[in-house]
Amino acid sequence: MVNQNANPHQTAETTAPVLIARELSRHYHVSRGFLRGQATVKALNSVSFELAPHRTLAVVGESGCGKSTLARQLTMVETPTSGSLNIAGIEVATASKAALRELRPRVQMVFQNPYASLNPRKKVGTQLAEPLLLNTHLSPAEREAKVRDMMQRVGLRPEHYHRYPHMFSGGQRQRIAVARAMMLNPQILVADEPTSALDVSIQAQILNLFMDLQAEFGTAYVFVSHNLSVVEHMADDVMVMYFGSTVEYGPNDAIMNNPLHPYTRALMQATPVIRAADRKARVKLQGELPSPMNPPSGCSFHTRCPYAQAQCKAEVPALRPFAGRMIACHRVEEVAAGTAVPNA
Ligand SMILES: Nc1ncnc2c1ncn2[C@@H]1O[C@H](COP(=O)(O)OP(=O)(O)OP(=O)(O)O)[C@@H](O)[C@H]1O
Ligand SMILES: [Mg+2]
Repeated sequence: MVNQNANPHQTAETTAPVLIARELSRHYHVSRGFLRGQATVKALNSVSFELAPHRTLAVVGESGCGKSTLARQLTMVETPTSGSLNIAGIEVATASKAALRELRPRVQMVFQNPYASLNPRKKVGTQLAEPLLLNTHLSPAEREAKVRDMMQRVGLRPEHYHRYPHMFSGGQRQRIAVARAMMLNPQILVADEPTSALDVSIQAQILNLFMDLQAEFGTAYVFVSHNLSVVEHMADDVMVMYFGSTVEYGPNDAIMNNPLHPYTRALMQATPVIRAADRKARVKLQGELPSPMNPPSGCSFHTRCPYAQAQCKAEVPALRPFAGRMIACHRVEEVAAGTAVPNA
Protein backbone atom coordinates (compact mmCIF):
# COMPACT_ATOMS: atom_id res chain seq x y z
CA MET A 1 0.00 0.00 0.00
CA VAL A 2 1.28 3.42 -0.83
CA ASN A 3 1.48 5.77 2.11
CA GLN A 4 0.07 9.09 0.97
CA ASN A 5 2.27 10.95 3.41
CA ALA A 6 5.49 9.23 2.49
CA ASN A 7 8.08 10.51 0.11
CA PRO A 8 7.38 8.49 -3.05
CA HIS A 9 10.98 7.66 -3.89
CA GLN A 10 12.38 7.00 -0.46
CA THR A 11 14.09 3.64 -0.31
CA ALA A 12 15.02 1.46 2.62
CA GLU A 13 18.63 2.71 2.51
CA THR A 14 17.62 6.33 3.04
CA THR A 15 18.44 7.53 6.54
CA ALA A 16 15.58 8.15 8.92
CA PRO A 17 13.83 11.46 8.32
CA VAL A 18 14.80 14.35 10.56
CA LEU A 19 11.59 16.18 9.71
CA ILE A 20 8.13 14.71 9.23
CA ALA A 21 5.18 16.99 8.52
CA ARG A 22 1.79 15.34 8.59
CA GLU A 23 -1.24 17.16 7.23
CA LEU A 24 0.02 20.52 8.44
CA SER A 25 -2.55 23.30 8.16
CA ARG A 26 -2.47 26.91 9.19
CA HIS A 27 -5.54 29.10 8.91
CA TYR A 28 -5.70 32.82 9.66
CA HIS A 29 -8.76 34.78 10.66
CA VAL A 30 -8.84 38.11 8.90
CA SER A 31 -11.27 40.99 8.91
CA ARG A 32 -13.06 41.60 5.61
CA GLY A 33 -13.69 45.22 6.49
CA PHE A 34 -16.23 47.33 8.33
CA LEU A 35 -19.42 45.36 9.23
CA ARG A 36 -18.46 42.48 7.00
CA GLY A 37 -17.30 40.02 9.60
CA GLN A 38 -14.39 37.68 9.59
CA ALA A 39 -13.04 35.46 6.89
CA THR A 40 -10.68 32.53 7.14
CA VAL A 41 -7.61 32.38 4.94
CA LYS A 42 -6.47 28.79 4.57
CA ALA A 43 -2.83 29.71 4.03
CA LEU A 44 -1.65 26.13 4.47
CA ASN A 45 -3.79 23.06 3.85
CA SER A 46 -2.89 19.56 4.94
CA VAL A 47 0.70 19.55 3.72
CA SER A 48 2.71 16.36 4.34
CA PHE A 49 6.31 15.45 3.59
CA GLU A 50 9.40 13.78 5.00
CA LEU A 51 12.95 15.05 4.88
CA ALA A 52 16.13 13.11 5.65
CA PRO A 53 19.58 14.50 6.56
CA HIS A 54 21.72 15.63 3.60
CA ARG A 55 18.61 16.18 1.51
CA THR A 56 16.90 19.26 0.14
CA LEU A 57 13.19 19.75 -0.30
CA ALA A 58 12.35 22.68 -2.55
CA VAL A 59 8.98 24.32 -1.97
CA VAL A 60 7.85 26.29 -5.00
CA GLY A 61 4.80 28.26 -6.06
CA GLU A 62 3.55 31.74 -6.80
CA SER A 63 3.36 34.58 -4.32
CA GLY A 64 0.74 33.88 -1.66
CA CYS A 65 0.65 30.10 -2.10
CA GLY A 66 1.74 29.54 1.52
CA LYS A 67 5.48 28.98 1.29
CA SER A 68 6.43 31.33 4.11
CA THR A 69 3.49 30.09 6.18
CA LEU A 70 4.90 26.58 5.88
CA ALA A 71 8.36 27.88 6.81
CA ARG A 72 6.94 29.52 9.94
CA GLN A 73 5.35 26.25 11.07
CA LEU A 74 8.53 24.27 10.44
CA THR A 75 10.66 26.70 12.42
CA MET A 76 8.10 26.63 15.25
CA VAL A 77 7.56 30.39 15.03
CA GLU A 78 3.82 29.66 14.77
CA THR A 79 1.62 26.81 15.93
CA PRO A 80 -0.20 24.93 13.18
CA THR A 81 -4.01 25.01 13.23
CA SER A 82 -3.94 21.24 12.76
CA GLY A 83 -1.61 18.46 11.76
CA SER A 84 1.63 17.40 13.33
CA LEU A 85 5.31 18.02 13.10
CA ASN A 86 8.00 15.60 14.16
CA ILE A 87 11.50 17.05 14.35
CA ALA A 88 14.46 14.81 15.14
CA GLY A 89 12.09 12.20 16.57
CA ILE A 90 10.24 14.67 18.80
CA GLU A 91 6.53 15.38 18.36
CA VAL A 92 6.45 19.16 18.60
CA ALA A 93 2.79 19.48 19.69
CA THR A 94 3.20 17.27 22.74
CA ALA A 95 6.82 18.03 23.62
CA SER A 96 7.70 19.40 27.06
CA LYS A 97 9.02 22.94 27.40
CA ALA A 98 12.48 21.57 28.12
CA ALA A 99 12.38 19.36 25.02
CA LEU A 100 11.27 22.30 22.88
CA ARG A 101 14.04 24.48 24.26
CA GLU A 102 16.50 21.84 23.24
CA LEU A 103 14.84 21.40 19.84
CA ARG A 104 14.60 25.01 18.70
CA PRO A 105 18.30 25.60 17.98
CA ARG A 106 18.29 22.50 15.78
CA VAL A 107 16.06 24.24 13.25
CA GLN A 108 17.45 27.48 11.83
CA MET A 109 16.18 29.91 9.27
CA VAL A 110 17.69 32.10 6.55
CA PHE A 111 15.54 34.90 5.15
CA GLN A 112 15.30 36.70 1.84
CA ASN A 113 16.72 39.96 3.12
CA PRO A 114 19.93 39.35 5.04
CA TYR A 115 20.10 42.96 6.20
CA ALA A 116 16.83 42.64 8.10
CA SER A 117 18.08 39.58 9.97
CA LEU A 118 21.38 41.17 11.02
CA ASN A 119 21.82 43.75 13.74
CA PRO A 120 23.34 46.89 12.15
CA ARG A 121 24.94 47.97 15.43
CA LYS A 122 26.86 44.80 16.17
CA LYS A 123 30.10 43.61 14.63
CA VAL A 124 29.93 40.48 12.54
CA GLY A 125 32.09 38.50 14.97
CA THR A 126 29.86 39.44 17.89
CA GLN A 127 26.67 38.49 16.03
CA LEU A 128 28.01 35.15 14.94
CA ALA A 129 29.08 34.35 18.50
CA GLU A 130 25.61 35.08 19.91
CA PRO A 131 24.04 31.66 19.23
CA LEU A 132 27.06 30.07 20.95
CA LEU A 133 26.77 32.43 23.89
CA LEU A 134 23.09 31.57 24.36
CA ASN A 135 23.22 27.84 23.74
CA THR A 136 26.66 26.54 24.73
CA HIS A 137 29.13 26.76 27.60
CA LEU A 138 32.11 27.60 25.39
CA SER A 139 34.70 30.10 26.63
CA PRO A 140 35.13 33.43 24.79
CA ALA A 141 38.28 32.12 23.11
CA GLU A 142 36.51 28.93 22.00
CA ARG A 143 33.61 30.96 20.66
CA GLU A 144 35.91 33.20 18.67
CA ALA A 145 37.70 30.18 17.22
CA LYS A 146 34.39 28.64 16.13
CA VAL A 147 33.18 31.91 14.64
CA ARG A 148 36.40 32.39 12.69
CA ASP A 149 36.21 28.84 11.44
CA MET A 150 32.62 29.28 10.22
CA MET A 151 33.49 32.64 8.62
CA GLN A 152 36.15 30.91 6.60
CA ARG A 153 33.78 28.13 5.56
CA VAL A 154 31.22 30.61 4.23
CA GLY A 155 33.85 32.58 2.32
CA LEU A 156 34.37 35.57 4.63
CA ARG A 157 37.84 36.89 5.37
CA PRO A 158 39.45 37.14 8.85
CA GLU A 159 39.37 40.95 8.84
CA HIS A 160 35.56 40.84 8.41
CA TYR A 161 35.29 39.74 12.04
CA HIS A 162 35.41 43.34 13.29
CA ARG A 163 33.22 44.92 10.61
CA TYR A 164 29.57 45.96 10.71
CA PRO A 165 26.88 44.57 8.36
CA HIS A 166 26.54 47.82 6.36
CA MET A 167 30.15 47.47 5.26
CA PHE A 168 29.28 44.39 3.18
CA SER A 169 27.65 43.72 -0.19
CA GLY A 170 24.31 41.88 -0.37
CA GLY A 171 25.97 38.58 -1.22
CA GLN A 172 28.45 38.88 1.66
CA ARG A 173 25.63 39.79 4.03
CA GLN A 174 23.78 36.66 3.02
CA ARG A 175 27.00 34.72 3.75
CA ILE A 176 26.97 36.24 7.24
CA ALA A 177 23.31 35.27 7.72
CA VAL A 178 24.05 31.72 6.55
CA ALA A 179 27.04 31.52 8.89
CA ARG A 180 24.87 32.67 11.77
CA ALA A 181 22.24 30.03 10.99
CA MET A 182 24.93 27.35 10.81
CA MET A 183 26.77 28.27 14.05
CA LEU A 184 24.96 25.65 16.14
CA ASN A 185 25.23 23.00 13.43
CA PRO A 186 21.44 22.72 13.00
CA GLN A 187 19.86 19.53 11.69
CA ILE A 188 17.40 21.50 9.59
CA LEU A 189 17.83 24.78 7.76
CA VAL A 190 14.75 26.48 6.35
CA ALA A 191 15.71 29.05 3.73
CA ASP A 192 12.92 31.36 2.55
CA GLU A 193 13.84 32.84 -0.86
CA PRO A 194 17.47 33.23 0.27
CA THR A 195 18.75 34.42 -3.10
CA SER A 196 15.76 36.38 -4.43
CA ALA A 197 17.09 39.74 -3.26
CA LEU A 198 20.56 39.21 -4.74
CA ASP A 199 22.03 40.06 -8.12
CA VAL A 200 21.75 37.19 -10.57
CA SER A 201 25.55 36.92 -10.72
CA ILE A 202 25.71 36.45 -6.95
CA GLN A 203 22.82 34.00 -6.68
CA ALA A 204 24.80 31.04 -8.02
CA GLN A 205 27.60 31.66 -5.53
CA ILE A 206 25.19 31.60 -2.61
CA LEU A 207 23.47 28.46 -3.93
CA ASN A 208 26.89 26.80 -4.18
CA LEU A 209 27.62 27.86 -0.63
CA PHE A 210 24.41 26.16 0.55
CA MET A 211 25.37 22.99 -1.29
CA ASP A 212 28.95 22.98 0.08
CA LEU A 213 27.71 23.42 3.64
CA GLN A 214 25.20 20.62 3.22
CA ALA A 215 27.89 18.27 1.91
CA GLU A 216 30.03 19.12 4.91
CA PHE A 217 27.47 19.14 7.72
CA GLY A 218 24.68 16.93 6.40
CA THR A 219 22.05 19.56 7.16
CA ALA A 220 18.56 18.90 5.78
CA TYR A 221 17.26 21.90 3.82
CA VAL A 222 13.79 23.17 3.15
CA PHE A 223 14.43 25.63 0.37
CA VAL A 224 11.59 27.99 -0.47
CA SER A 225 11.56 29.72 -3.83
CA HIS A 226 9.15 31.07 -6.41
CA ASN A 227 11.78 30.34 -9.06
CA LEU A 228 12.05 26.80 -10.39
CA SER A 229 15.42 27.39 -12.03
CA VAL A 230 16.89 28.26 -8.62
CA VAL A 231 15.85 24.98 -7.06
CA GLU A 232 16.52 22.84 -10.12
CA HIS A 233 20.17 22.28 -9.20
CA MET A 234 19.69 22.16 -5.46
CA ALA A 235 16.71 20.00 -4.71
CA ASP A 236 16.36 16.28 -4.17
CA ASP A 237 12.60 16.61 -3.92
CA VAL A 238 10.28 19.31 -5.17
CA MET A 239 6.92 20.27 -3.73
CA VAL A 240 4.75 22.53 -5.84
CA MET A 241 2.12 24.46 -3.90
CA TYR A 242 -0.98 26.27 -5.04
CA PHE A 243 -3.37 28.02 -2.68
CA GLY A 244 -1.87 26.42 0.41
CA SER A 245 -2.03 22.86 -0.91
CA THR A 246 0.45 20.49 -2.47
CA VAL A 247 -0.43 19.93 -6.11
CA GLU A 248 2.64 17.93 -7.13
CA TYR A 249 5.41 16.45 -4.99
CA GLY A 250 8.21 14.08 -5.83
CA PRO A 251 11.81 13.58 -6.87
CA ASN A 252 13.41 16.58 -8.58
CA ASP A 253 14.17 14.62 -11.76
CA ALA A 254 10.64 13.31 -12.15
CA ILE A 255 9.13 16.75 -11.70
CA MET A 256 11.63 18.72 -13.77
CA ASN A 257 11.83 16.23 -16.66
CA ASN A 258 8.18 15.37 -16.77
CA PRO A 259 5.98 17.85 -14.93
CA LEU A 260 2.44 16.52 -14.95
CA HIS A 261 0.31 18.96 -13.01
CA PRO A 262 -0.92 21.74 -15.33
CA TYR A 263 0.14 24.24 -12.68
CA THR A 264 3.69 22.86 -12.52
CA ARG A 265 3.82 23.08 -16.31
CA ALA A 266 2.63 26.65 -16.16
CA LEU A 267 5.32 27.53 -13.63
CA MET A 268 7.93 26.03 -15.93
CA GLN A 269 6.55 27.92 -18.85
CA ALA A 270 7.19 31.07 -16.81
CA THR A 271 10.80 29.97 -16.21
CA PRO A 272 12.32 29.82 -19.70
CA VAL A 273 15.72 28.38 -18.79
CA ILE A 274 14.31 25.26 -17.23
CA ARG A 275 15.16 21.89 -18.80
CA ALA A 276 11.58 20.64 -19.06
CA ALA A 277 11.68 17.79 -21.55
CA ASP A 278 8.11 18.18 -22.61
CA ARG A 279 8.15 21.48 -24.40
CA LYS A 280 5.07 20.71 -26.47
CA ALA A 281 2.60 20.57 -23.64
CA ARG A 282 3.23 24.07 -22.42
CA VAL A 283 0.56 25.51 -20.22
CA LYS A 284 0.00 29.20 -20.04
CA LEU A 285 -1.33 30.61 -16.81
CA GLN A 286 -4.70 32.15 -17.46
CA GLY A 287 -6.24 34.89 -15.40
CA GLU A 288 -5.42 36.19 -11.98
CA LEU A 289 -4.71 34.36 -8.78
CA PRO A 290 -8.12 34.15 -7.05
CA SER A 291 -8.63 35.89 -3.70
CA PRO A 292 -7.49 33.76 -0.74
CA MET A 293 -10.59 34.89 1.15
CA ASN A 294 -12.80 33.46 -1.57
CA PRO A 295 -11.09 30.35 -2.89
CA PRO A 296 -12.48 28.47 -5.90
CA SER A 297 -14.57 25.35 -5.40
CA GLY A 298 -13.25 21.91 -6.31
CA CYS A 299 -9.70 22.01 -7.59
CA SER A 300 -8.45 25.46 -6.62
CA PHE A 301 -6.54 25.65 -9.92
CA HIS A 302 -9.63 25.09 -12.07
CA THR A 303 -10.20 28.81 -12.73
CA ARG A 304 -6.83 29.04 -14.48
CA CYS A 305 -6.41 25.52 -15.83
CA PRO A 306 -6.78 24.93 -19.57
CA TYR A 307 -8.01 21.36 -18.97
CA ALA A 308 -10.64 22.12 -16.32
CA GLN A 309 -13.93 20.22 -16.65
CA ALA A 310 -17.12 20.00 -14.59
CA GLN A 311 -15.53 17.53 -12.16
CA CYS A 312 -12.64 19.94 -11.53
CA LYS A 313 -15.09 22.68 -10.48
CA ALA A 314 -17.03 20.36 -8.21
CA GLU A 315 -14.60 17.99 -6.53
CA VAL A 316 -11.36 18.62 -4.66
CA PRO A 317 -8.78 16.29 -6.23
CA ALA A 318 -7.00 13.99 -3.77
CA LEU A 319 -3.22 13.94 -3.66
CA ARG A 320 -2.43 10.49 -5.03
CA PRO A 321 0.54 8.54 -6.33
CA PHE A 322 1.03 8.62 -10.10
CA ALA A 323 4.15 8.15 -12.24
CA GLY A 324 6.66 8.28 -9.39
CA ARG A 325 5.24 11.29 -7.60
CA MET A 326 2.21 12.51 -5.67
CA ILE A 327 -0.20 14.61 -7.66
CA ALA A 328 -3.58 16.25 -7.15
CA CYS A 329 -5.26 16.45 -10.55
CA HIS A 330 -8.44 14.76 -11.78
CA ARG A 331 -7.13 14.61 -15.32
CA VAL A 332 -3.51 13.60 -14.79
CA GLU A 333 -3.92 10.35 -16.77
CA GLU A 334 -4.99 12.29 -19.85
CA VAL A 335 -2.40 15.02 -19.30
CA ALA A 336 0.34 12.38 -19.03
CA ALA A 337 -0.89 10.57 -22.14
CA GLY A 338 -1.11 13.84 -24.06
CA THR A 339 -4.79 13.28 -24.75
CA ALA A 340 -6.11 16.12 -22.59
CA VAL A 341 -7.43 18.79 -24.94
CA PRO A 342 -7.18 22.37 -23.69
CA ASN A 343 -10.46 24.23 -23.38
CA ALA A 344 -10.96 26.84 -26.06
N1 LIG B 1 -0.48 36.53 9.59
C1 LIG B 1 -1.35 36.42 8.58
N2 LIG B 1 -2.62 36.83 8.70
C2 LIG B 1 -3.49 36.71 7.68
N3 LIG B 1 -3.19 36.18 6.49
C3 LIG B 1 -1.93 35.76 6.30
C4 LIG B 1 -0.94 35.85 7.32
N4 LIG B 1 0.23 35.35 6.84
C5 LIG B 1 -0.04 34.96 5.59
N5 LIG B 1 -1.33 35.20 5.25
C6 LIG B 1 -1.98 34.89 3.97
O1 LIG B 1 -1.71 33.52 3.71
C7 LIG B 1 -1.44 33.32 2.32
C8 LIG B 1 -0.07 32.71 2.18
O2 LIG B 1 0.93 33.65 2.51
P1 LIG B 1 2.48 33.34 2.49
O3 LIG B 1 3.20 34.54 2.97
O4 LIG B 1 2.74 32.06 3.20
O5 LIG B 1 2.77 33.13 0.94
P2 LIG B 1 4.16 32.96 0.17
O6 LIG B 1 4.00 31.76 -0.69
O7 LIG B 1 5.28 32.97 1.13
O8 LIG B 1 4.20 34.25 -0.77
P3 LIG B 1 5.45 35.14 -1.24
O9 LIG B 1 6.06 34.40 -2.41
O10 LIG B 1 4.83 36.43 -1.66
O11 LIG B 1 6.40 35.28 -0.09
C9 LIG B 1 -1.58 34.67 1.66
O12 LIG B 1 -2.87 34.76 1.14
C10 LIG B 1 -1.38 35.64 2.80
O13 LIG B 1 -2.06 36.84 2.57
MG1 LIG C 1 6.94 34.21 1.36
